[in-house]
Amino acid sequence: MSRAYSNIYNDFLKYWSFIGGDDRPPAPKQRETAAELLHMPRIATIRWTRGSGKTFLLGKLGFFLAYRLGWDIIVGAPTEKQTEAIMGEVDGAARRILGRNDLISNTERVKIKPTGAEIRALGLGSSSYKTAQSKHAQLVIIDEMQQLVAGEVAESVIGMVAPHQGSVWLAGLGGSPGSASAVFGAMDGVHSVHPWQEHIKLDPVYVDYVDDARQTMPPPEFAAHYECADLDMSEFLLVPSLDTIDQHMHDPFTMVCIDWGKRRDQSVATVIDRDASGIYYHLRDWKVLNGSYTEQGRVLGKWLLDIPYDEIRVEINGVGDGASDILKEEILKSDPDSRIRDVWVLQNKNKALHRLFGAARDKKVLYDDKNPRSVPFIKEITSIKYRMSESGSMIIPQSSHSDYLSSILLAFVPEAKVYL
Ligand SMILES: Nc1ncnc2c1ncn2[C@@H]1O[C@H](COP(=O)(O)OP(=O)(O)OP(=O)(O)O)[C@@H](O)[C@H]1O
Ligand SMILES: [Mg+2]
Repeated sequence: MSRAYSNIYNDFLKYWSFIGGDDRPPAPKQRETAAELLHMPRIATIRWTRGSGKTFLLGKLGFFLAYRLGWDIIVGAPTEKQTEAIMGEVDGAARRILGRNDLISNTERVKIKPTGAEIRALGLGSSSYKTAQSKHAQLVIIDEMQQLVAGEVAESVIGMVAPHQGSVWLAGLGGSPGSASAVFGAMDGVHSVHPWQEHIKLDPVYVDYVDDARQTMPPPEFAAHYECADLDMSEFLLVPSLDTIDQHMHDPFTMVCIDWGKRRDQSVATVIDRDASGIYYHLRDWKVLNGSYTEQGRVLGKWLLDIPYDEIRVEINGVGDGASDILKEEILKSDPDSRIRDVWVLQNKNKALHRLFGAARDKKVLYDDKNPRSVPFIKEITSIKYRMSESGSMIIPQSSHSDYLSSILLAFVPEAKVYL
């Protein structure tokens, strides 16, 4: 151990007893991780079980580095409230160590006047990324990393530390494939994992808390929160949950749901049977269309001749939407008796997602694995990247848009119907 390093580590332990008090010494995991972080790795992830002292450690350690080494630090989290939680720890430490004249301190900014070092809060809600670019720091600390999309974090944060060759520390739980948790956790760096079972002197209240969570959370979510595993709800909710059809539905209501390509030229249509009670959904055929809208409409019109559908659902942006008009015209050309009736507006995508995932989890959504077109469908649907919102619902970033998913969502659209 180098002398400089051992000094700073010992200093930190001394400093901790000042601010934490002798009754709150660092827990073994906090001590071990602080030692690793003081070696200044470029990237560090701290993936510890709920309530294990991540935010506490990062706030105290952050302040210590600003105080002792004069570092400028940026503290970020997905929401303002979460940012305030770490800043609260920083602020508390600052007030214990420094007198009023040496300090400007609140939950947005802590400035150590004698050295000018500053710790600033940065809300990482999407609109603040723009303001983030002009900020520079030796260290960026991010909490609740599982709720952030890796690409967006990298874009804003790497630029902030680049001029100083600084470090990025991220803390939180296990995240989904595109999350900061999963992506940064796979990079070179220091990675600390602390599942709940490794707590020393487990408090019985905490054990109850964990047991309770085990009863109420879907298993992958429980594993992410308490065992620090990667979270892949997409697989859990959609794929193993999507049972295969072994028996055709009696007298179904058949919808053809079309995601009419807007950004790219590709459109996807899914044939979905719904049973009379409206509970079961059978995904039984797919059609992928390419080319101009007229060309797509023509192919679709022909294909639909062989499908006894009850309703066509197309997402539009407003009445008289050009693509839908072309579609309707082409369908009526091929089949003047067509029952094309309704056009649906996907106003509330989250609600539709929620309904689809709920139905899938309850084994109410089945697909026909004998249909060769189910292969690309399953492939696309399993590669969707998303993150969990604070309230536990899914957020699918624009970048991982899936035409297949968008088309199925139309079957789960609440209300809002427009007549052509
Ligand atoms: N070394 C310690 N000694 C005593 N109490 C501590 C210690 N470290 C943290 N705590 C307390 O334990 C509680 C949980 O800590 P903290 O909020 O930092 O956990 P967390 O890992 O960030 O949790 P979450 O996953 O819910 O965000 C807080 O009340 C904090 O003050
Ligand atoms: Mg926390």
